[in-house]
Amino acid sequence: MKKLIAARDLRPGMFLEADVVKDYKNGEEQSFLEAREAVSTGDKSKRARLTGRMNSRVERDGGILITSASQVESLQQTGLSMITINSEKGDDLPGSVKPLTDPSRTPPPEGRLVHFDEEIERAKEARDETTETLRETLQNVALGKGVDVEKIHGASTVITESILRNMDAMVSLTRIKQHDAYTAVHCMNVCTLVVAMAQADNVSPSILPMITTAALLHDVGKTRVPLEILNKPGRFEPHELEEMRKHVIYSAEVLEEAGGFPEEAIAIAMQHHEMMDGSGYPHKLRGEQIHPFARMTAVADVYDALTAKRIYKPAMPMYQSLLRIHKNKGTEFDDHAVNLFVKALGAYPVGSYVELNTREKAVVFEPNPVDSRKPTVGILNTSSQKDRAVPLVVDLGLRSEAEGREIAKVLDPHRLNVDVEKALQRIERKGERRDRRRR
Ligand SMILES: [Fe+2]
Ligand SMILES: [Fe+2]
Repeated sequence: MKKLIAARDLRPGMFLEADVVKDYKNGEEQSFLEAREAVSTGDKSKRARLTGRMNSRVERDGGILITSASQVESLQQTGLSMITINSEKGDDLPGSVKPLTDPSRTPPPEGRLVHFDEEIERAKEARDETTETLRETLQNVALGKGVDVEKIHGASTVITESILRNMDAMVSLTRIKQHDAYTAVHCMNVCTLVVAMAQADNVSPSILPMITTAALLHDVGKTRVPLEILNKPGRFEPHELEEMRKHVIYSAEVLEEAGGFPEEAIAIAMQHHEMMDGSGYPHKLRGEQIHPFARMTAVADVYDALTAKRIYKPAMPMYQSLLRIHKNKGTEFDDHAVNLFVKALGAYPVGSYVELNTREKAVVFEPNPVDSRKPTVGILNTSSQKDRAVPLVVDLGLRSEAEGREIAKVLDPHRLNVDVEKALQRIERKGERRDRRRR
């Protein structure tokens, strides 16, 4: 399998996908090894000098088996940050993520190493820990201290691994918001969604921690915006808006000062408010000028802002926010990024309040990675609108359980005065379902 990995993860034993290119230098024909361009990250291909002997092998095999540390070094010196390896022709990345699934159950859905309910508690812990680390980090930066890169990297690894095991668990928790204007929780949510999108895009696991760290810190620059502007409840005056918008430049500066962040990470910080049609800031970049990871961050960022309650606006229901993002696909948002977003979040995110074709009301409890229109729901009342004493948990993806039930429409829980979080807790504690081990 071909995989895009960070150049720093290259090891002897791996097979590098590469071409030979001829060029003239001082009137003499020379051959260069050109690592396969990392197209999906927007990276430029860079060349490394080759010896004549390696030359023909690369031409014949479509790449080269890396056999020594000096080859690794010379490739890394080209400055290329992403490369493509082929795990069928050489070693793969050492696997850090171990599936921990119950062998007596049916295997987890495709693309997931464990079941949702096996990951959710771990995901909650990882999320709480990281949010705390992030809160501390933001406070430190506000006080003029630097970012504790090691600590943030540690937190990033925990999140990345949870997403690699089963992204739906961590993604389902992004419904949890905090109501002040600017919090670590927003950064945590955006980060989770971006990493899940990258994972849905089959980005090499080796670069996920980098994306995680950068997305966690995408708004760190807000700590350099004066508090009276940052917390202003009403509309901004033009000079305030200008200052507020500088947070992207400050975020990039904080990362640069911290050191050790690659170009993609700085792009996430600097470009996450750029829009595909050039209507964003700070540089009014358009389309391909915007880094693919920044395009993903823009989608996740707007979604989290729409679904959050603010002093000046109520929370928009998840489904409606998704529709809004869809409406601006191709204008403000990158098509591909929106598709990945829907793939990561599912058509009906966990916590959506829905009405079934039977007129029963239910809350989406677990996503269905195979068919996102058929999640597992907790049914709260009967078709004659009587509350159920015990919620009925039904996997709409299983014909025997669904018994013809489908989602008919999405409802607004705020308007109908339904506390979705409480309902989810009740479903988790009391919900009645058939033996899940059969699944
Ligand atoms: Fe931002
Ligand atoms: Fe943001």
